[in-house]
Amino acid sequence: MIGSKDELTLGTLSLTYRVLFTGFLVVVGLGLCMAGAQIMLTHGKADGKAGLSIDDIVYSYYGNRSGSKLEAALTGKMKDKAPAEVNIALIKWVRDGAPASQWETVKPLLEKQCAKCHDEESGLPEVTKLEVAQSLAETDHGASIASLTRVSHIHLFGISFIFLFVGAIFGLAEFNQFWKLILISTPFAFLVLDVASWWLTKFWPSCAWLTMIGGLGYSLAATVMFATSFAQMWLPRWTKKTTD
Ligand code: HEC
Repeated sequence: MIGSKDELTLGTLSLTYRVLFTGFLVVVGLGLCMAGAQIMLTHGKADGKAGLSIDDIVYSYYGNRSGSKLEAALTGKMKDKAPAEVNIALIKWVRDGAPASQWETVKPLLEKQCAKCHDEESGLPEVTKLEVAQSLAETDHGASIASLTRVSHIHLFGISFIFLFVGAIFGLAEFNQFWKLILISTPFAFLVLDVASWWLTKFWPSCAWLTMIGGLGYSLAATVMFATSFAQMWLPRWTKKTTD
């Protein structure tokens, strides 16, 4: 429904609030773009290929249960770090169950080929330590319950505040009431779907597509709300009414 003249709308807001809301939306918009870029740089590379795919989501949450992180690295990103026969020897050790009894033969290989990068200062796993190498040699079970709990609560608390303010600003727009209610509520629904999908994927990898839908859903709803809010705060078509 079109608001009547005495109703407070984005176009009739004082300049102070239009500048304030614009500042907030610009910074939050940048934050959302960075969040997208970060997903591409972390989860996007989980399957060793660029771009976010269903496999990335499965590997991040369910894990790559056909192998270990160490084997995945030796056949993927770290493949060129050591000669083929060293890679094969290391993979054999992984497949034998990473026994400590063979450590004397494995450790020198790791020290020679890997330690120059995987040292204490690097922040990378110190593969020349038996416990570290063994844990990397275990089957990759994806995200741990502890890390999922941590990321879930940060997401739910943090992002719901962003949607609250974005929705409050968009709530002042002149917009079809039905669609306004849909747009204001979808980000919250998709946020819950997104977080729920990580947990579902952890146990049932076939749920990974829900993560894609969740992310796409709230990006779309946010884009419509941002665009509408900016347009109605600054374009003469809406702001002119103030001076009529
Ligand atoms: C030239 C430096 C360099 C060398 C040499 C190197 N690595 Fe790496 N390694 C890295 C970097 C950087 C990363 C993180 C890259 C990323 O995740 O995209 C990494 C990641 C890994 C990971 C993944 C860790 C994780 O938690 O997922 C494993 C496993 C690994 N390396 C094993 C090895 C092994 C085994 C060797 C020796 C055969 C080796 N690396 C040699 C730089 C190196």
